[in-house]
Amino acid sequence: MANTTGSPIRVRKDAWRLAADDPTLLWYARAVDAMRQRPLSNTTSWEYQAAVHGTNADPSSFNADQQKAWGQCQHATWLFLPWHRMFLGIFEQIVAATVAKLGGPQDWALPYWDYSDATNPNARKLPAAFTAAEFGVPEKNPLRVERDQGNDGAAFLDSKAVSLNSLKHKTFTGRSTPGGDSGFGGPSRGFNHSGDNDQGQLEMVPHDVIHSDIGGLMGAPDTAALDPIFWLHHANIDRLWEVWRHQGNSNPTDPSWLTGVKFFFHNAAGQPVTYSPQDVVDTIASPWHYQYDRTGETPAAAADKTTLATGG
Ligand code: C2O
Repeated sequence: MANTTGSPIRVRKDAWRLAADDPTLLWYARAVDAMRQRPLSNTTSWEYQAAVHGTNADPSSFNADQQKAWGQCQHATWLFLPWHRMFLGIFEQIVAATVAKLGGPQDWALPYWDYSDATNPNARKLPAAFTAAEFGVPEKNPLRVERDQGNDGAAFLDSKAVSLNSLKHKTFTGRSTPGGDSGFGGPSRGFNHSGDNDQGQLEMVPHDVIHSDIGGLMGAPDTAALDPIFWLHHANIDRLWEVWRHQGNSNPTDPSWLTGVKFFFHNAAGQPVTYSPQDVVDTIASPWHYQYDRTGETPAAAADKTTLATGG
């Protein structure tokens, strides 16, 4: 597939529904292994990218560049969804370039983990590639890290954890009042790195619950992006934003959301770039060039899923 500029569109697919011979996860494992071997001074290294989300390293040790780039993840704000979309988009480009360089497919796209899919009996297990003893490279599995739950290959998420009730919230934002409805996407406030108790509905469930149920690195923002499952979890959260939009809901049009805050990153070529939410409302547009294989869930289906899942 190609858009009008001729750039290929990457199609993000459900990790549990990849064809048996689909190489997406094998190449993901190989690219993760390669990224881990890059020095921290390389902005496309595994550790550098995870530190953009959060790090518990001592800030006094950061160089000027790291001071700008690290510890930026946005939580409990309406910037939560757009910031993580930027972060994932750059990560996808870094992995795709690494896969291509290693001799893999040119059209690699970040898969997602749809833990809420009631039609998939495996949905509430970690995708098998993340629990195998050996996968992608000889004698190890770059996708397997220490976790509190899930590595035994069993289903471990309960129906509340995977509820899609957040999709029923029709407005993107809400008042930043503790206990009030903060909307689908979060309260309207500016840069907010540390999470607190005033989060948007999607951020609370399933986002937060999945993090804490997996635990280990995923249990804290300063380490979460060091677990390779982080990126598939967030691809699903990003997809649910598209599902919500496809249901006829609208993103904010307020300039303070669209362009009020600019975020600093290094792109896949290592060049400094800045983006604001306006730059990520269209996933097909440059420089992102991706879409999801499935964004068609209806509120009824979402409600059904919750009902179906009860007692499971
Ligand atoms: Cu910025 Cu799921 O975290």
